[in-house]
Amino acid sequence: MNATGYAIAGPSLALIKYWGKKSASENTPATGSLAVTLAGLESRTKVAFDDRDSVLVNGEEQPASRFTPFLDSLRSELGLGDQGIAVSSRNNFPTAAGLASSSSGFAALAGAVAALAGRDEPPARLSALARLGSGSATRPVYGGFTVFDAGARAAEPERDETFWPDFRVILCVVREAAKATSSRAGMESSRQTSPYYGPWVESSPALLAQAREALGDRDWNRLGPLIRQSYLRMFGTMFSAEPPLIYWQPESLGLIQALEALRREGFTAWETMDAGPQVKVFCPAAEAEALTAELDRRVPGLRFLTAAPGPGLRTWRVE
Ligand code: PMV
Repeated sequence: MNATGYAIAGPSLALIKYWGKKSASENTPATGSLAVTLAGLESRTKVAFDDRDSVLVNGEEQPASRFTPFLDSLRSELGLGDQGIAVSSRNNFPTAAGLASSSSGFAALAGAVAALAGRDEPPARLSALARLGSGSATRPVYGGFTVFDAGARAAEPERDETFWPDFRVILCVVREAAKATSSRAGMESSRQTSPYYGPWVESSPALLAQAREALGDRDWNRLGPLIRQSYLRMFGTMFSAEPPLIYWQPESLGLIQALEALRREGFTAWETMDAGPQVKVFCPAAEAEALTAELDRRVPGLRFLTAAPGPGLRTWRVE
């Protein structure tokens, strides 16, 4: 029987953002990121050798052009010659809408192909392989909190998923549809056209260093404002690009303003956003339920998911 490789990965949500590439050919980041791997949200991927490449995501056939370069890199790195690979992947959360499905999807694909190749690769190597698909995919190879440094080829574990049991994320799903501009294209346009791109890159090491310290102390009051500065500076480079890149929807801003008010009312809740309209809110576990109820009341009609820090990439092979 044909061997099969399997992998499961959770999405990696950045507290401090990666936006812009140091090297496009190497796919290394211009800014270091600090992220958390989420529990309960999953990309599950199954791969097998076949006559030609094919990719199904949530049961739908994908254009091969999007995946062939990554599969070619994996084949050459893992010594698989020119064998075709049939990929089937499922996400149990909205795909390509800024819920970090490319991080979990590419990490799971790298892990599943390595398992299929019968290679017991160390996590640092799997992280470097995942980078060839998507920069953010380096991070969920590890569970808990991870850092992907500027210019690095792989992410590193920072704090494991048991480090901060009180840590939660509320994902506010503003739109379920896939985004119009990929993060890859958006980053490149920010780099080429935004006058704020240079200052964004230059100011990001200090944000990352301070955030690592605040995380080490589990200090919401120091970490929160850094999370907010990071995503708003990142969006500054998008708003000021030519043409401007605006991922936000009215509800996104509604949530940002509701959170501003809720902080004044005593909640500990700090939002971030990625290349899409969704708003993700970091908060203590004890506040998650009341906070979700308040957000639902103030910005009605959205879907909310809550997640805790979760485990890293799991892979296995079936003969
Ligand atoms: O590596 P990509 O293409 O998934 O880019 C990730 C970019 C952001 O999600 C906006 C930020 C981040 O650090 O995850």
